[in-house]
Amino acid sequence: MKKSITVINGDGIGPEVTAQAIKVLDAIAGHFHHEFNYTYCLMGADAIDKTGNPLPDETIESCLNTDAVLFGAIGHPKYDNDPSAKVRPEQGLLKLRKSLQLFANIRPINTYIALQHLSPLKAKYLENVDFIIFRELTGGIYFGKKELSEDGNRASDDCVYTTPEIERVAHLAFQYAQKRKKKLTLVDKANVLETSRLWRKIIQQIATAYKEVAVDYMFVDNASMQIILNPKQFDIILTENMFGDIISDEASVLTGSIGLLPSASVGIGTALFEPIHGSYPLVAGKDTANPIGSILSAAMMLDYFQMPEEAKLVRQAVDWTLENRFVTKDIDTINFYFTSTIGDLVAEYINNKISDVVN
Ligand code: IPM
Ligand code: MN
Repeated sequence: MKKSITVINGDGIGPEVTAQAIKVLDAIAGHFHHEFNYTYCLMGADAIDKTGNPLPDETIESCLNTDAVLFGAIGHPKYDNDPSAKVRPEQGLLKLRKSLQLFANIRPINTYIALQHLSPLKAKYLENVDFIIFRELTGGIYFGKKELSEDGNRASDDCVYTTPEIERVAHLAFQYAQKRKKKLTLVDKANVLETSRLWRKIIQQIATAYKEVAVDYMFVDNASMQIILNPKQFDIILTENMFGDIISDEASVLTGSIGLLPSASVGIGTALFEPIHGSYPLVAGKDTANPIGSILSAAMMLDYFQMPEEAKLVRQAVDWTLENRFVTKDIDTINFYFTSTIGDLVAEYINNKISDVVN
């Protein structure tokens, strides 16, 4: 099969982790006789530096006209510490999500037996943790009206949701639940927020069409605690934009490193695949960042291309590296491998050269 992919390296460690995912995609293409073509585009601080615009028109154009987008990371400290900055890297990603109408962000959380000792939680809490966070991605407080009064002493961000916005992401989440452990937890703050009460009402209505899925409702404060206390209870978590952002970072702690976690953003336009970690500028360019989140995002892209065998092989290769302690510095600060070496190892495994690699 022939597929065109827009690659947005972005900022910080984005380029080096994305390069490993491309290595892996190339290995898959070779092994399964596919042809993947890449178009490199700018976004984020990198794009501001080069063009003054965090999301140049050519980037949107390319994304709209290709089969998928592979994205690295976004953000630079010089903007984080300047609250008055008018142009910010993150605006690029938010505008891209909106332009491609990527209303659902899918974040799987799995724990690896080989890495259990790295989690601050005891192993008994981590076995069989396997859930997916469905985060609404184009609505809520992220996209509501933002205001700062003229005297600079009053600021507001509106949180708005409409029924269709909730319905479309909910249907997707229910469909996943049906194919999995048939449990869906809506995380909200319905004891306080009107938007949350609308979410609850709509989920209750939709649930009647998915009778085999057990639905429960959890306030976000309690959910934050439950993710740590008893993560096994979850199958699908469905939640709005901001809560999803926060609890997915929290859930990443269960796995041992946020560097391991992938995501897929899907909706109406071209789907986008990115690791959930940030740009981690402190180690940018040092070849020490963890590329697994990006590599597993490429695996999610292969699933989206309806290439399940290909996706499975990538996941097998990743499992093999972790089980054999081929890991980056975030996982083992003493016996660590470089970013590029991990990419090579995963690609080599795919090329069936495991014995050469080990010997
Ligand atoms: C994420 C990130 C983004 C978000 C930022 C970079 C805008 O934290 O993808 O989780 O908040 O959505
Ligand atoms: Mn985030």
